[in-house]
Amino acid sequence: MKNLIVYYSFTKNNEKIAEYFRNQLSCHIAKIETVRKRSGLSILFDLMFNRKPAVKAIPFYLWNYEHVIFIAPIWAGKIAMPLKTFLLNEKANIKKYSFVTVCGGGNASQKAKVEKQLIELTGKVPEKVVELWVSNLLPIQKQGTVKSVTGYRIQPADFAQFDQQIQEILEDNELVEK
Ligand SMILES: Cc1cc2nc3c(=O)[nH]c(=O)nc-3n(C[C@H](O)[C@H](O)[C@H](O)COP(=O)(O)O)c2cc1C
Repeated sequence: MKNLIVYYSFTKNNEKIAEYFRNQLSCHIAKIETVRKRSGLSILFDLMFNRKPAVKAIPFYLWNYEHVIFIAPIWAGKIAMPLKTFLLNEKANIKKYSFVTVCGGGNASQKAKVEKQLIELTGKVPEKVVELWVSNLLPIQKQGTVKSVTGYRIQPADFAQFDQQIQEILEDNELVEK
């Protein structure tokens, strides 16, 4: 089997993009669920105390897939903690992987830091890292405001804005196919 999508999403932006990729690639998809439900407060504590919230097992074995596409938000410059836990648990079972995030955006140096974190967590260099910036979907006067960015819920019509970056991952899929 070729691709597997594994995602975490708190307010469903990353869930929507994960489902979009699943439809494009016709592949298996799994949602990471935390053992204890996250709230805004528990996320804050996760960040403050660098906690690793326990996550449930998914019904797929990663080693059976040539390429896993991980999808999750960025929180305070880092990969959302539930995916972090998952990557630490599963790193030995990952062959090739890419990472996609629907994040607030606006910080050009974030992507390199996220890539570094991925390598630290998995011990492997990702095939692709793609950031889809919510701030690019907002009118210019709202792009810098945290409330507007974190409060935005992406719509199917927004996917066209991200088309070029989405294609990067879909093209990579062709590489895996060869
Ligand atoms: C506590 C918190 C911290 C965040 N920090 C960042 C950040 O450092 N960089 C960024 O690009 N986006 C940041 N965001 C924005 C989220 O990544 C963005 O809202 C994302 O689309 C949420 O994904 P979800 O709907 O799948 O949960 C943050 C959001 C929250 C709630």
